[in-house]
Amino acid sequence: MPIGLSIPRADGASKVTGAALYADDIRPEGCWYGATVRSQRPHARILSIELDASFDWTDVALVTAKDIPGVNILALITEDQPVLCDGLTRHMAEPIALVAAPTRDRALAAAKAVKVTYEDLPFNLDAEAAEGHEQAIYGTDNVFKRLTISRDGPIRSTPSRHVHEGVYHLGLQEQLYIEPQGILAIPGENGAPLTIVGSMQCPYYIDKALARVLGHHDFHVIQAATGGGFGGKEEYPSMVSAHAALLALKTGRPIKLIYRRDEDLRATTKRHPARIRITSTCDAEGFLLDWRADVLFDGGAYNTLSPVVLSRGVLHVTGPYRADRVHLTGRVVATHTPPNGAFRGFGAPQAQFAVERHMDRIAREMHIDPLELRRKNMFRPGDLTATSQRLDDPGAQAVLEAALNAAAAPVVVPPSTPGARNARTRAAQGLALVFHGCGFTGNGEAKIQGEVALVASGGVVTVLTGSTDIGQGTDTIFPQIVAEELNIPLSRIRMAPHDTALVPDSGPTVASRTAMVVGGVTQIAARKLGVALGATGPAFLAALDGLTAPVRVSHKYTDDGTHPWDEQTYQGDAYPTYGWMCAIVDLDVDLDTGEVRYHRLVTATDVGRILNPVLATGQIEGGALQALGWATAEEVVLDRYGCMRNDRLTNYIIPTSSDAPEMVTRLIEIPFAGGPFGAKGIGEIPMDAPAAAVAQAIERATGRVLDRLPMTPERVLGAASSSGA
Ligand code: MOS
Repeated sequence: MPIGLSIPRADGASKVTGAALYADDIRPEGCWYGATVRSQRPHARILSIELDASFDWTDVALVTAKDIPGVNILALITEDQPVLCDGLTRHMAEPIALVAAPTRDRALAAAKAVKVTYEDLPFNLDAEAAEGHEQAIYGTDNVFKRLTISRDGPIRSTPSRHVHEGVYHLGLQEQLYIEPQGILAIPGENGAPLTIVGSMQCPYYIDKALARVLGHHDFHVIQAATGGGFGGKEEYPSMVSAHAALLALKTGRPIKLIYRRDEDLRATTKRHPARIRITSTCDAEGFLLDWRADVLFDGGAYNTLSPVVLSRGVLHVTGPYRADRVHLTGRVVATHTPPNGAFRGFGAPQAQFAVERHMDRIAREMHIDPLELRRKNMFRPGDLTATSQRLDDPGAQAVLEAALNAAAAPVVVPPSTPGARNARTRAAQGLALVFHGCGFTGNGEAKIQGEVALVASGGVVTVLTGSTDIGQGTDTIFPQIVAEELNIPLSRIRMAPHDTALVPDSGPTVASRTAMVVGGVTQIAARKLGVALGATGPAFLAALDGLTAPVRVSHKYTDDGTHPWDEQTYQGDAYPTYGWMCAIVDLDVDLDTGEVRYHRLVTATDVGRILNPVLATGQIEGGALQALGWATAEEVVLDRYGCMRNDRLTNYIIPTSSDAPEMVTRLIEIPFAGGPFGAKGIGEIPMDAPAAAVAQAIERATGRVLDRLPMTPERVLGAASSSGA
């Protein structure tokens, strides 16, 4: 019975031995290397693109917007972003032209020798000034999307009403997958279709985008071993694929297009910066009467996925707390910075950092214990969310109590940690509580209808899915689900390559939906295969071995109507279910340097059902470490033109294993009937809680209130006690 067991990762051996092929490991015969000519202006008319006469242009191919056979659009939610600038650039590092040459060095040199002449135009990098700004970037008012969610309730009469207002700021964050963006485009021989292969989350996003750019569908997309995504390889690989394909078309050769790290940092999408205002009203005991929040996201120069990031952000800006009346507004605006996009949590981490800091503000100003305040207001079964969704599970309470229990054990500070305790060091503990909607927002799943197919043939069952393994374990979990459902050994199950020529569109690998939603579809497909072969268990194996022709079944997600949602009013069930998490961090603050040292991070997370304990723990601990990086280390510094200045791993600092605290990771199981064996999505929730717990601990240690991320040593030292700057 493989569900609940730590089955070793299917990709483990190949990655440990180096046999796994990442994009750069793939070396087709006659391959040329691509490079991208990028804008050096935030907003400018492109007057000319010329070749430097002093450069040797033999064996170099050039592609500009004129070479695009289809439309010059990167198709996603909206169609505002070109694949290559056509006459205008709207942000630094925007792709203008492409070159290819027999070696990478030649290609990079050639890209430098392409001279672009600009006529500078005024630009705006300030999201707070963007709406209605005279520099129109998008539409008439520079607003990509706006949203209002309201729920009225009784106006309770109380002896006193206490109003608290706060403003919370969040900066950019880079996904920092270890493998940079990389795609190959390989022309087929003798009329065979073009192959796109490389690092990606969503082969079918590339499929849709590339068909528009090429004007035909004579290609297929294959995921190579992928060194992390975290949302950064949700939509951006469509851009890289289009570029590689255009170069392959121009040269007739295989093209490899791999970003350098600095280029990747400057050019690709990041987490949306946010300004979040919250105004709450509570009674004398701290029970919330009214909760008003306004979310402003900086979308950058193009829409990308910003409209749906906004939805998730606004839907999570109550945190896991109830109030009699809720009024939430949000908008995502256009600025002349590189577009922001998907990043683990998708707006929810920004929203819930603000919520948790606001809860701490109420506690501080009302002289209530922050934990008590959370206990008083946290969602309980029967409560209504902002969209009037009735919650039925006691997740908030369960994870809070489990984390508190685990954190009751003394913190063991490793004696080898230099300077762990001295007179100028203060230790403190901080706590945060969050929830996270699993799967797509609203009727997203019903619209997408993710599909999975199973083929029984040759004595094995092969799982065909577009859901990719990006390190999170899809290729291990899906066979576990099939094995459990059919009661057969894992050795009889294979995963088909994630190749659009073979697998159906299971929907994108995003939104904490793969194990829960696509895993659920996989389970039903397995059930259908059992019916088709007339058996499960040993009898199934006998039937499988006796097959004379392959048997194929498939299943598509179907909406069972149990989660009504009104897309116009944003009322109803915003998500099929929610995961819950409580994080408790123990840290030291060095009062001389402002440096924060983490000692222990306790988390308790409701995962619905544990499919694979090691993989689930890995998801939680990896995401939590990424959140600790966001909390105190990771700061994207833009220059006055909106270009990332610290575009190196030496100055954009992420935590490494030596920065990681002891992690105590408790997995709680409150099953979700719609998930496979009760599983909920867990990919994103660990990003939501830790940063706010850190802020609370820093406040306890230093008396300083930090309402802005990241909490760098400079901010820890310089923060005023009340301004929250
Ligand atoms: Mo994810 S941020 O939904 O790729």
